[in-house]
Amino acid sequence: MSTAVRYYSRSGNTRAVAEAIAAKAGVQAVSVDSPEAGISDGVDVLFIGGALYAYGIDKHLKKYLKTLGSGDAKKAVVFSTARFSKHALDVIKKELAGAGIPVEEETFFSKGKPGGDVLKAAADFAGRFIC
Ligand SMILES: Cc1cc2nc3c(=O)[nH]c(=O)nc-3n(C[C@H](O)[C@H](O)[C@H](O)COP(=O)(O)O)c2cc1C
Repeated sequence: MSTAVRYYSRSGNTRAVAEAIAAKAGVQAVSVDSPEAGISDGVDVLFIGGALYAYGIDKHLKKYLKTLGSGDAKKAVVFSTARFSKHALDVIKKELAGAGIPVEEETFFSKGKPGGDVLKAAADFAGRFIC
C-alpha cells in the first residue's frame, strides 16, 4: 500500500502531527510548498492536513489542493490543528471532494500544540488506514 503525507504549517503544530503520521506510515511528511510536494504516482492513501487561520486555511494549502486530481489518491484522510475550531477539516474535505478524491469521514484534530499523547493518538489514528 502506498501512502503520502502532505501538510501546511506556519508554526509547527500541524507539522508535528504530520510527522507522527508519516513515521507510522514509513514515509516523509512533505510541506505543500516544497518542490517535492507533487504526487507523481497515485497513492492509495493521502494524509493531508492544515491549520485554521482567521477561520480559513492558508493560501499555500488552498493552492495545493487545487492542483490535486482524482488520479492522485484513491482516498484522502484529513487532519488539522487549531486553537478550538475544526472548520479547516471541512474546508479541506470539500476541496478534496471537488477534486474527485474520496475522503475518509473520520478525521484527526488537535487543539493547539500537540503533546506526546496527541502525537501517539495521531499515529494510532493513521495506523487504522494503513494496511
Ligand atoms: C493568524 C492566526 C489566526 C488563527 N485563527 C484561528 C481561528 O480562526 N480559529 C482557531 O480555532 N484557531 C486559530 N488560530 C490558531 C491556529 O489554528 C493554531 O495555533 C494551529 O495549531 C496552528 O498550526 P500550525 O502551527 O501548524 O501553523 C490562528 C492562529 C494564527 C496565528
